[in-house]
Amino acid sequence: MPFLTTTQLRSPSQVFVQRAKWLLIVLAALPFLRLAVGAPLGWLGVNPIEFITRSTGTWTIVSLVVTLSITPLRRLLNWPWLVRLRRTTGLITFFYAFLHFMTWLWLDRFFDWTDMVKDIVKRPFITVGFAAFLLLIPLALTSNNASIKRLGARAWQRLHWSVYAIAVLAVFHFIWLARRNPNEPYIYAAIFALLLGARVYWKFSKNK
Ligand code: HEM
Repeated sequence: MPFLTTTQLRSPSQVFVQRAKWLLIVLAALPFLRLAVGAPLGWLGVNPIEFITRSTGTWTIVSLVVTLSITPLRRLLNWPWLVRLRRTTGLITFFYAFLHFMTWLWLDRFFDWTDMVKDIVKRPFITVGFAAFLLLIPLALTSNNASIKRLGARAWQRLHWSVYAIAVLAVFHFIWLARRNPNEPYIYAAIFALLLGARVYWKFSKNK
């Protein structure tokens, strides 16, 4: 038997991680399928556009929480393999952000570019939501091994720290919507603060 390191001994097989990725993809597809099937069948209530906007917005922020939880969970549980799911959860976040943005652009603004710019400038919650979406694009585009190689691990990591800026913008976007449940954005704010706090603590403590 070839020599195995302790990490390799603790790690589940490649097949297990691959299955976990597929499970994540299937679970993440369910809200999308609900919208894709529910819209033509009239299951989305009296205002289907609002339903789709809210649903895609919710799944964007939820998958952002999942993505940002991976590193802290990996450290707390000592499951190094968890990091191999982060690319999948990050791309799921981008998928829902894209749907959310397209719902606004297509069904709300009818691809009217002047109207779109006016809305971005006029409504602060759209301004920050749009900024969050723009910041997600380079992260999605560089979520591959070729980009890590091209940029170098350090620069790539520095770029991907902007995910915390995205989380902050997403929280302000949600707060400024003045939703029916005004406490909900603060729950996300507390979770993001905890996750960022843990990362900063680990970065600056000796316990690396
Ligand atoms: C990372 C990016 C984004 C995140 C995490 C996000 C998240 C959210 C969340 C959580 C909601 C509320 C869902 C609910 O009602 O429960 C929401 C609503 C909304 N978002 Fe976003 N969003 C993002 C980007 C954008 C962008 C780019 C736009 C358009 C330019 C946008 C436009 C809207 C609109 C129009 C609503 C509904 C407002 C209403 O119901 O009055 N969002 N978003």
